Amino acid sequence: MEIKEHWEKVYRQKPIDQLGWWEEDPSASLQLIQRCELPLQGHILDIGCGASTLADRLLEMGYTRLTLVDISQTALDTLKKRLVIPEGATVKFIQDDITQPEAVWNIPEIDLWHDRAVLHFLVDETDRQMYRKVLHHRVRDGGYVCIAAFSLEGAKKCSGLPVKNYSAQTLAEFLGNTFRLLEWFPYVYYQPSGNPRPYVYTLFQRIPGKQKTENTVD
Ligand SMILES: C[S@@+](CC[C@H](N)C(=O)[O-])C[C@H]1O[C@@H](n2cnc3c(N)ncnc32)[C@H](O)[C@@H]1O
Repeated sequence: MEIKEHWEKVYRQKPIDQLGWWEEDPSASLQLIQRCELPLQGHILDIGCGASTLADRLLEMGYTRLTLVDISQTALDTLKKRLVIPEGATVKFIQDDITQPEAVWNIPEIDLWHDRAVLHFLVDETDRQMYRKVLHHRVRDGGYVCIAAFSLEGAKKCSGLPVKNYSAQTLAEFLGNTFRLLEWFPYVYYQPSGNPRPYVYTLFQRIPGKQKTENTVD
């Protein structure tokens, strides 16, 4: 089955609060996002946003410029229906595949790239390289990257798909030497079924003024 169809089916089959990654309270992400001290008009991208509550919380906190990208149109439609967008805020919903980027390649520069539980689904090296290429292309000089992925002790499969596990160090190696690791912590998320899912949460900054090197893709 095509990967897009897989995710469409997942979001059609179950209420979102029964999905194995649903969280009412995205406070682990918010803890790292707040550390960036972005202006409220900073451009925040949530890649593979699904129907996550992160956008709801960011809008409640006063952030006004969000881009929400997912491969699943069903997930985006669910989110669109639920989100209360205050006057003056701009929220863009983009259906795209990060491994074959079209619209996402051309979005304006990003102050903060957020990913919870998306990169770890990319097990193919070509797909990982493309993800990194888009990230390097769109995150501004001095911008931030927050990635939460299954840790080395974490699950080896999710949603019936294989995953690649990470540590803060392997994520740092993945991003390359134009990014500096600012903070990381282990975090155990509990699925609606009660099963523990160990993650690693990381925050990086693109080192201001640092030239790209052969260690980066683009
Ligand atoms: C485990 S869910 C996490 C959703 C959300 N980030 C959250 O924390 O609730 C993974 C999400 O990544 C999306 N996704 C998977 N592969 C993708 C790809 N190649 N490009 C864009 N989104 C993708 C899926 O549709 C799904 O919404």
